Amino acid sequence: MGDFLELAARRQSCRSFTGERVEREKLTKCVEAARLAPSGCNGQPWSFVVVDAPDKAAQVAKCAQVVGESNKFTGKAGAFIVVLEEHAVLNPALRKMLDSQIFAKGDIGGAVVSICIEAAELGIGTCVIGLYDRESLTKILNLPVEQRFGALIAVGYPTDETIRPKIRKPLEEIVRYV
Ligand SMILES: Cc1cc2nc3c(=O)[nH]c(=O)nc-3n(C[C@H](O)[C@H](O)[C@H](O)COP(=O)(O)O)c2cc1C
Repeated sequence: MGDFLELAARRQSCRSFTGERVEREKLTKCVEAARLAPSGCNGQPWSFVVVDAPDKAAQVAKCAQVVGESNKFTGKAGAFIVVLEEHAVLNPALRKMLDSQIFAKGDIGGAVVSICIEAAELGIGTCVIGLYDRESLTKILNLPVEQRFGALIAVGYPTDETIRPKIRKPLEEIVRYV
């Protein structure tokens, strides 16, 4: 068995991609990792658009470059994985009790991390992009106007494989045992 903590430390946001394309087989493995992620009531409120055609990827990169110079690096991403928020699949009894989307944001967070961790395992860099032009992305991907987005993830081969030390709050500050 591999060491998960070592892999979790190796996963880092990549902001310098080589521009090479990423093999579809590897992109599919990343989506498979998301498919296996847990979700509230197993509602699986997600679907995925893998953007790997170079012309489309260039258009998606433009959507990610909405604030000044930030996210310019996405222009060299080999692909993007767009996580869409879908209706959770809930059994009728639960649907009566719960808002169907109550767990969706958290579920999508888990799916996103699974994608990034699997990519790291495959030697591929990722960066979750929080700020992007949803309206343009909706048009580029031919989505209905009411489509909800979960996340946009830039994917590609890193120009530099050096692992940076993680900047995180210390354990003692964030955990307590009772
Ligand atoms: C929801 C979310 C949105 C993010 N948006 C951006 C972004 O727009 N641009 C960027 O360069 N990094 C973005 N990041 C990456 C974070 O800055 C990064 O995860 C954090 O600084 C920790 O660094 P690490 O991922 O290298 O461990 C985002 C991460 C998350 C989870």
